[in-house]
Amino acid sequence: MDPYKLRNDFPILVNGYEGREVIYFDNACMTLKPQCVIDKVKEYYTEYPACGGRSVHRLSSRVTTEFERTRDIVRDLLNAPSRDSIIFTRNTTEAVNLLANSFPFQKGDTVLGTDHEHNSNLVPWIEQMNRGRIRYLPVPSGPDNTFDLERYQEMVKGCRLVSMVHVANLDGSRIPEKEVIKIAHEYGALVFLDCAQSVPHMSIDMKALDLDLLAFSGHKACGPTGTGVLSGKPEVISSLTPFIIGGDTVAETDYDRVKYLDPPKRFEAGLQDFAGVIGLSEALLYLKRVGLDDIHEHELALNRACTRELKDLVEIIGPMDADKRSGIFPFRVRGMNSHDVAMMLDELSGIALRSGMHCVHSWYRARKEETSARASFYLYNTEEEIKTFIRTITDIVRDFGPVPG
Ligand SMILES: Cc1ncc(COP(=O)(O)O)c(C=O)c1O
Repeated sequence: MDPYKLRNDFPILVNGYEGREVIYFDNACMTLKPQCVIDKVKEYYTEYPACGGRSVHRLSSRVTTEFERTRDIVRDLLNAPSRDSIIFTRNTTEAVNLLANSFPFQKGDTVLGTDHEHNSNLVPWIEQMNRGRIRYLPVPSGPDNTFDLERYQEMVKGCRLVSMVHVANLDGSRIPEKEVIKIAHEYGALVFLDCAQSVPHMSIDMKALDLDLLAFSGHKACGPTGTGVLSGKPEVISSLTPFIIGGDTVAETDYDRVKYLDPPKRFEAGLQDFAGVIGLSEALLYLKRVGLDDIHEHELALNRACTRELKDLVEIIGPMDADKRSGIFPFRVRGMNSHDVAMMLDELSGIALRSGMHCVHSWYRARKEETSARASFYLYNTEEEIKTFIRTITDIVRDFGPVPG
């Protein structure tokens, strides 16, 4: 893949912002959108801007066909066990909320997470714990701050559900998914992976992994904002009780009785984000065309270059080995507030990245750590941009960093 060519597909990279070139390193939060996605959303609004699923007229049929086509594309991308156990949500957060509120827990069941969870895969479980439905335990990381498989193996015994971040947005570290799933199954637990930072960046094969449940956000995968997916094995999805309910989720109702539709419709309440879901089809096809293995390799190469040049200048959060951090470069300039660093990068070189606690407050607070900045790379980022980033960081450290000695 050639990132310099791919950039032409993204209008913001061609046009810039306020007359300046944009160096976009905030991809873990939200990715840019290629023209094909913008065109597809526009196609919906201009050619068939109607409601799918309900009416019998031709416009509605077209919406239904396009909407369901996205479901097929998601199934192909993930090698998901079944198209009917793919549920569209607004984002990963909504998918986790659906799961946490609907999973058929029995009192005293344990859910196991990691100490790297994004609030979206932590807060819904804490809430369930506070309501007395479950016990929630995070597996502490090892001394190098990566996943501790031995500790996991001890803690997973007797547990009902493992709900873990696949690739952490905090530091790009990845859990050993194959082992995690195999061990969980040996002990009779199911596994849900928060794939917000993996599905857009690497190949995931749900069937080969024997993965029970997965969620990701479309807007982190070149798709329209407010799109997400919960996918699972049919028997697991069927065991969930309906969560957000009302129009579209039911086959029939009386004044005192409801008959729900089969999944996925039982979980897709009310009018859907037709434009978003239909636009998502083009995003996922685009990623497939570029090649997810190549995207992953490209991000690693950028991260290696960045790590090599900056490791002595800034403090890196997470593993020092760039290969263990996917496309994420989390760092601190000693003695400087991370928001100041982020604003200076934007001001000096038009570099957009994230600063703060990255929705992983629990990790920072447990360690009494200062906030950090995070550059996260994607398919359209280039070596040239990395050079500009390194040069700008070097200038900032020289002019504003700690005084030597
Ligand atoms: C690992 C991880 N999980 C969950 C989320 C939540 O995603 P969303 O805000 O799209 O629901 C994010 C967002 O950054 C994330 O990085």
